Amino acid sequence: MNKEELTQAYASLEFPKECSFSRNDWDILANFWYPIALVADIGDQPRKARLLDTDLVIARLGSGYVVSKDLCIHRGAPLSNGWVRDDCIVCPYHGYRFDVTGKCVLVPSHPEWKIPGKLRLQTVLHEERYGIIWVCLSGQPTNRIPVWEPEESDSVYRRFTLGPELWDCSAGRLIENFIDNAHFSFVHRSSFGQEGSATMGAEYDFSQDDYTMTMEFDYKATNPDDSPIANATELDRHMHRTLFLPFCTRTVISYPQEREHLIHFNIAPVSSRKSQLIAVFHRNFDHDVPIDQLCEWEKRIIYEDRAIVELQKPEEIPLDISSEVHAKADKASLALRNWMIGVGLRGEMTA
Ligand code: FES
Ligand SMILES: [Fe+2]
Repeated sequence: MNKEELTQAYASLEFPKECSFSRNDWDILANFWYPIALVADIGDQPRKARLLDTDLVIARLGSGYVVSKDLCIHRGAPLSNGWVRDDCIVCPYHGYRFDVTGKCVLVPSHPEWKIPGKLRLQTVLHEERYGIIWVCLSGQPTNRIPVWEPEESDSVYRRFTLGPELWDCSAGRLIENFIDNAHFSFVHRSSFGQEGSATMGAEYDFSQDDYTMTMEFDYKATNPDDSPIANATELDRHMHRTLFLPFCTRTVISYPQEREHLIHFNIAPVSSRKSQLIAVFHRNFDHDVPIDQLCEWEKRIIYEDRAIVELQKPEEIPLDISSEVHAKADKASLALRNWMIGVGLRGEMTA
C-alpha cells in the first residue's frame, strides 16, 4: 500500500461506550496528535495503551508498527492479549493473523478461505518521531507533532527520559502547570524556586500562532547543594518555552557559559481525569553526571508539580472564563483557555 491508501485504510475511531468526556469534547480531542508510547518500550509482544478512554494495541511488526483499536473484529477479543508471529499480530482467541497494514492474512481454521476485506484491524493513524509513537484517533489531525531541533540531531546534547507515568489529573490541568511560571517560587521552593524571584516568573513575553504559544523570560533559581547541576547554587536562567497545542511543551533553559537544558513534556489524555506524561530531557553539559542522578533530580521537581495538580478542583480547567480570577502572570493559561474555547471544547466531564 502506498501512503495515501494506508491513510484511507485508517479507521476513524468511534466515541467509546464508557467515556469520561462529553461527546462534543471527545470528537474535538480525537483530532489531535498525542504521544502514547516510547518506542523503546515496545518489545516483541503487543502492548496495550489507552487514549481518550479508547483501548489501543501497539505492536512492532517487521520494520514498522501497527496501532489499532484493541479489539478483534471477529469475536471481540483484545489483541493486546495476543502475540507476534511472522510480522503479524495474532489474535489470542482463534489465531487470526493481521499484518502491519491491518489486513487479515490468515484464518487458521480456514486457510483456503478468501478472507473478506472487512476482516481487518481498526488501525489508527500513527507516526514515530523522537522515539515516541504519536497517534491521532480521527485520522485527521488538526495540530502538529512538536519540533525538537537541534537537540535531537546534535550529539552535543545528552538525552534522558522519565515515564511514561500515569497521573491523576486532566491533561488540561497538567499542561496549564507546565506553562505556568508564577508557581516556581512556591511549588518548587524546596528545589530550584526562590521566593525573591516571584515577580520574574510573572513577567514574560508571549506570542501565539495557530499551532503554538511561546513564552520567554528570565528566572533566578537557587538550587540546593545536592542538585546535580555543576556550580549551580545561584543560577540565572533564561527560559524559552513553546507550547505545541494542545498538550506538549518544549522549554529551553539557558544558563551562563552556554549551558542548555531542554525539557519536553508530552501529555496524552488517557481519560478526563488521567493523563500520561512522557518527559524527555536534553543537556549539553554535565555529561559526567550519571543519568540516574539527573533523572532523580528532574523527578523530584516534577513531583512537586504533581502534588498540586492532582489536587486541583475542578479537575478539568474551567472554560467559563468568568469562573476564575486571572492575573497578568496567567496570560498563557488564559490564552490556552481561549484557544480551547475557539476550537469548540466545553471542558465537560461525564464521569
Ligand atoms: S476473536 Fe479474534 S480471531 Fe476470533
Ligand atoms: Fe513546576
